[in-house]
Amino acid sequence: MNMVILLGAPGSGKGTIAGRLAETNANLKHVSSGDLLRGAVAKGTPAGVEAKGFMERGQLVPDGLIAQMIKDVIAETQGDVTMLLDGFPRNVAQAEMLEATGAPIRSVVLVDVPDEIIQDRIAGRRTCPKCKAGYHVTALPPKVAGVCDKCGAELVVRKDDNPDTVKDRLVVYHRETEPLIAFYEAKGLLRKIDGNKGPVKNAEAFLAAM
Ligand code: AP5
Repeated sequence: MNMVILLGAPGSGKGTIAGRLAETNANLKHVSSGDLLRGAVAKGTPAGVEAKGFMERGQLVPDGLIAQMIKDVIAETQGDVTMLLDGFPRNVAQAEMLEATGAPIRSVVLVDVPDEIIQDRIAGRRTCPKCKAGYHVTALPPKVAGVCDKCGAELVVRKDDNPDTVKDRLVVYHRETEPLIAFYEAKGLLRKIDGNKGPVKNAEAFLAAM
């Protein structure tokens, strides 16, 4: 097992890229910290109860809480698998926790998208609460409006996708997560793609860079 980390602002398209690639490559596994946390919130686990308020405010949940979830996934992932790690690490402390697991990092790919584009992407996002598939009302619409192509569930708007929370999430990204660019650059692991293209081109560019 090895890992490729997806770095990028909220709404930059990390989940869309990783989901698309994992669907068509049996040895790629998409692990989204946000999906793990939303799953815990939905189930009402102790971790979910603790995380809920932070997520609704667009703040990072405590490092130890999410790091334990990621460590559990790493422990259960074996064999010839490349894990596409989406949303973790989010700060230098988490990057050090990840390093301490000893799991090899193959590369870190920054999906670069300007903040002006982010607001539109998030405003149009619709998510399947059942199978986690992601859509956009104009850029990546489902075949039937409001219905997931893959499992038929009704699509929802994420609670943290309102414009005020998105602004806060971008502030948190620039303050807490952006320093990881220099952190991984210094280790010779960083690659960068222009995330401003369409979903298919982005996935191709990511695959070539990783
Ligand atoms: P998380 O779920 O990780 O959210 P995020 O990083 O803010 O990222 P998003 O899921 O919003 O965006 P994305 O980059 O995956 O974009 P997507 O592909 O959906 O985290 C949520 C919360 O959980 C955090 O705020 C925090 O509270 C907590 N959390 C998570 N991890 C944590 C951690 N490590 N530490 C502490 N707290 C943590 O695309 C966005 C939209 O654009 C979609 O509608 C999509 O269809 C569309 N789109 C995608 N690509 C394109 C394209 N190329 N062209 C046009 N539209 C596109």
